[in-house]
Amino acid sequence: MKLADNKATLSFSNGKPSVELPVYQGSIGPDVIDIRKLYGQTDMFTYDPGFLSTASCQSAITYIDGDKGELLYRGYPIEQLAQKCDYLDTCYLLLNGDLPNEGQRTDFHKLVLKHTMVNEQMQFFLRGFRRDAHPMAVLTGLIGALSAFYHDSTDINNPEHRHISAIRLISKLPTLVAMAYKYGVGQPYMYPRNDLSYAGNFLRMMFGTPCEDYKVNPVLERAMDRIFILHADHEQNASTSTVRLCGSSGTNPFAAIAAGVACLWGPAHGGANEACLNMLEDIQRNGGVAKVGEFMEQVKDKNSGVKLMGFGHRVYKNYDPRAKLMQETCNEVLAELGLENDPLFKLAKQLEKIALEDDYFVSRKLYPNVDFYSGIVQRAIGIPVSLFTGIFALARTVGWIAQLNEMLADPEYKIGRPRQLFTGSPRRDV
Ligand SMILES: CC(C)(COP(=O)(O)OP(=O)(O)OC[C@H]1O[C@@H](n2cnc3c(N)ncnc32)[C@H](O)[C@@H]1OP(=O)(O)O)[C@@H](O)C(=O)NCCC(=O)NCCS
Repeated sequence: MKLADNKATLSFSNGKPSVELPVYQGSIGPDVIDIRKLYGQTDMFTYDPGFLSTASCQSAITYIDGDKGELLYRGYPIEQLAQKCDYLDTCYLLLNGDLPNEGQRTDFHKLVLKHTMVNEQMQFFLRGFRRDAHPMAVLTGLIGALSAFYHDSTDINNPEHRHISAIRLISKLPTLVAMAYKYGVGQPYMYPRNDLSYAGNFLRMMFGTPCEDYKVNPVLERAMDRIFILHADHEQNASTSTVRLCGSSGTNPFAAIAAGVACLWGPAHGGANEACLNMLEDIQRNGGVAKVGEFMEQVKDKNSGVKLMGFGHRVYKNYDPRAKLMQETCNEVLAELGLENDPLFKLAKQLEKIALEDDYFVSRKLYPNVDFYSGIVQRAIGIPVSLFTGIFALARTVGWIAQLNEMLADPEYKIGRPRQLFTGSPRRDV
C-alpha cells in the first residue's frame, strides 16, 4: 500500500485530543483512511453498517467505477474481455493477474477441461435431496461436501493446495450445476466431455441425453460463455466478502465457496435475475406492455413495496456495462432461436425505455444492471428460472477463489472480526 501525501485528522468536540490517521492511495479509485489504530488511540470504533464507506481489504483483482459505469478485471475493460477472450482466459487472468500467452492458454484449458468429472459418490449424495429441492439448496450442500472428497487439497496455508482446489472448483462446478438440474427433471446425469469447450460441455451436460448425440449450437455456446465472463468477479460484493470472511478463519476453500453460494442465493444479490424474470412474467400475465405504466406507478409508490427488479445497484450509478453486453447477447440468442418477437424481451425494453426517461429513476441514478437481460437470455436457452442463481454461482466461483487466495497470500490478513455498537441492557441481575 502506498502512503498518500496527506493525512486525516480526527478531532472531537469534547476536548479529547485529536488523532492523525494515515491515508493510503490505490492505483485508481478513492484513497482510504487507515483506522486500524483508532480503537487503541481513542477507545472508539467506527460505525458503518452495510460497509457504505469501509474498504475491508486491499485487492488487485477487479475495479469498478460506478459513476462511469466501468468494470475492469485486472485492468482490462469487461467489454474487451467479452469480445476478445473466452471464459477460461478470463479465469486465468483473474487467478494469475495477466492474460495467458498461447502456451499457457493451451495448458490452462487442458488442465481445467481434464478435471470436470466428480466422484461417483456425488450422485448418491444428491439422491438424499427431494427432486423438487431448489438448486441453490442442492449446490450449497454439494459444494460444501467437496471438501470430504478432496481432503488432500484443503490446507489453505499451502499455495499448491490452494491452486489445486481452485482448478477443481472451476472444473467441477458446471458438472455439479448440470447434475442438480438433471436430478430435478428426473433425467440421467450426462458425464462431461473433455473435448468440448467449457461452455459447450456445460450445455451438453444440461440438455443432452444418452439417447442421442447432442450438437452444441455455437451461438448459444458463445452466449453461455459470455454470461460466465460477465459474472466472473465483481470485487467486494456480499458473497465475495462472505467467502473472504469465512475463509479468514482458516477453513477449507470448498467450505468458504459454499458460504459464498449461500449468500448469493438472496434476492438482493444473485437471486435478482430470477426475481426480474418473475416480475416480467407477472406483468405479462396481467396485460403485458399495456400495463407497464400502471406497474411503474406501483414501483414509484413507496408504500407498495414493489421494486423494478434488475434496476439499481449499490456501486453503479450509471449504466452497468455488463447490462449493455447482455442486451447484445439477448438480441443474438433470440435471433438465432427465431424468438425476435419474444413478448418478455419487448416488455423489458419498454420498461427500460420508460425508466430511463422517468425522473424517479433518473434522479436516483437507477439504471439496468446485468440481471435485467440475463434472465431472458437464459430462459431462451432453456435454463429454468430456479437455476439462474446456480449459473451465476458457477461463473462467480473463479472470482471467489481468486479473492480468497489473494487474501490468504496477503501478509496483513487477519481473521475478520467486526465490532459493534451495543444498545442492549447493561449488566443486570436475575
Ligand atoms: C441493488 C439494490 C439493493 C441497491 O440498493 P442500495 O444501493 O442500498 O440503494 P437504495 O436501496 O438506497 O436505493 C436508493 C433509492 O432508489 C430506490 N430504488 C433502488 N432500487 C430501486 C428499484 N429497483 N426500484 C425502485 N426503486 C429503487 C430506493 O427505494 C431508494 O429510494 P429513496 O432514496 O427514495 O429511499 C437496489 O437497487 C435493489 O433492490 N434493486 C433491485 C434488485 C436488483 O436488481 N438487484 C441486483 C443487483 S446486481
